[in-house]
Amino acid sequence: METVMVRGLNYRYHPGGPLVLKDISFQVAGGEMVAVTGLSGCGKSTLCFCISGAARHNRDGVMSGDVLLNGKDTRELRAAELALEVGMVFQDPETQLFSPTVEDEIAFAPENLCLPTAQIRERVDHALDLLGIAALREANPYKLSGGEKHLVALAAVLALDPPVLLLDEVMSQLDRAGKKRVAAALQRLRDMGKAVIAVEHNLEAVSFADRLLVMEKGTLLCDEPTASFLADRVFLNTRGLL
Ligand SMILES: Nc1ncnc2c1ncn2[C@@H]1O[C@H](COP(=O)(O)OP(=O)(O)OP(=O)(O)O)[C@@H](O)[C@H]1O
Ligand SMILES: [Mg+2]
Repeated sequence: METVMVRGLNYRYHPGGPLVLKDISFQVAGGEMVAVTGLSGCGKSTLCFCISGAARHNRDGVMSGDVLLNGKDTRELRAAELALEVGMVFQDPETQLFSPTVEDEIAFAPENLCLPTAQIRERVDHALDLLGIAALREANPYKLSGGEKHLVALAAVLALDPPVLLLDEVMSQLDRAGKKRVAAALQRLRDMGKAVIAVEHNLEAVSFADRLLVMEKGTLLCDEPTASFLADRVFLNTRGLL
């Protein structure tokens, strides 16, 4: 069974508004990473919004088609159940940070699950170490740089240990070393069996992805192994992706 199954997905933000996603279908297995790219406004963040299940709870939005997570229809999952299936790091991380310290931020979700204290501490330490941000433990998330905020939001998502990870341009504001750290972490998470979907403009940063999905004006233009894409510079150039 595929961990993420998107089938004939269409989305409008408002009834009668423009169709922002048009008949999108693809699958991602556990232990697989796909990168999603495309020009600004093509629908990458909207796709994440739909896969995360949040679109189902947006009363104005009109969604058709299916999004299944581990075989479960996102229409039938409540918000708390969705959080155990899929973790998302938003393009704008400010929207998901609300605790006074980085440590509190990462501990928040496992505390809500009422996990034992020792296990919460273990999850917090593991997430901080994996992303190389242990030094930020006591910092105020609001005072961090954009790249650091993304790392903290990712650490908070990892603390819930969901089988599906959705990352919306998490590398965009990181320096070279930060990008390398996140790349190493994502490869480890993939090896652990997670299904990873990473939106990125910078294709080199995600060259290790198994497949690359290119979107254009709300449609899925192609879904191919990353290596063959990166070799086809003419295609990438004509689509404005280099
Ligand atoms: N909350 C919203 N309400 C109405 N329309 C929206 C909303 N969010 C996005 N859109 C529209 O949906 C389309 C896709 O936007 P989306 O943010 O998904 O693109 P994107 O590929 O993530 O772009 P970027 O690379 O700039 O992040 C755009 O035309 C955008 O204007
Ligand atoms: Mg976006």
